[in-house]
Amino acid sequence: MKSTIDWVRWFHETPGLMAPEDALFLHGLALIAISGHPGRGAAELGTLHGKSAIAIGAACDICNVSLACVDSWSYEDAEEKIAVRNIAQAGLSHCVNIVTGHITTVGLNWKGGPLAFIFHDGCHQKPSIINDTDSWWGWIEPGGIMAFHDVWKAETNEGVIDRMAHYEAEYLGRVGVTAAYRKVK
Ligand SMILES: C[S@@+](CC[C@H](N)C(=O)[O-])C[C@H]1O[C@@H](n2cnc3c(N)ncnc32)[C@H](O)[C@@H]1O
Repeated sequence: MKSTIDWVRWFHETPGLMAPEDALFLHGLALIAISGHPGRGAAELGTLHGKSAIAIGAACDICNVSLACVDSWSYEDAEEKIAVRNIAQAGLSHCVNIVTGHITTVGLNWKGGPLAFIFHDGCHQKPSIINDTDSWWGWIEPGGIMAFHDVWKAETNEGVIDRMAHYEAEYLGRVGVTAAYRKVK
C-alpha cells in the first residue's frame, strides 16, 4: 500500500485554498465511501489546480479506483495544465481522469457508472448547487457520500440543505468548511 505521507507532502506543496483539516476529512470520507462500495470510484466537481484532488485521489489510489476531476477550467487553458502537472507530481496520474466541461452537463451525460463518493467545490451559488447536485446525485450508490465545500457561505449552505433535505440524505458531519452527507436511498 502507498504511504499516505506522499500525498500529505504534495498537498502541502500545491497552492490552493483547501485547508489541511478539510483535506483530511475528504480523504477519510473517500476511504470510507469506497471501502463500502469496492470498485466504485469518486468524482470531484471543481478541481482548479488539483489541491483537493490530491487528498481524494490518494484515497482512490489506496482503493484501486479512479477519481474523475471535472472542471471547465474556463478562465485559461493554463489552469488545466497546472492541475494536470500537480496531480502528476503527486504520483496520482494513473488514477485521476481529467474531465473538461460544465459540471451539470457532465453529470447529465456521465458514462463512468455509479460512484461511491462525490465532492462538490464548483460554483457556490444556490442555483448551481441545486443543478449540479441534481445532475450527479443519481450516480451515487446508496450508502455513498457527497461532500460540499464552503458551506460557511449562507447561499451555498442553503442550496446544500435544500437538496440534501429533498433527497432525504443523512448528515454525517462538518470539518472546517466541508459538510458531508450519506445517500440513504
Ligand atoms: C474553488 S475552485 C476548486 C478548488 C479545488 N477544489 C481545491 O480545493 O483545490 C472552483 C473551480 O470550479 C470550477 N467551476 C465553477 N463552476 C463550474 C461549472 N459550472 N462547471 C465546471 N467547473 C466549474 C472553476 O473553474 C474552478 O476551477
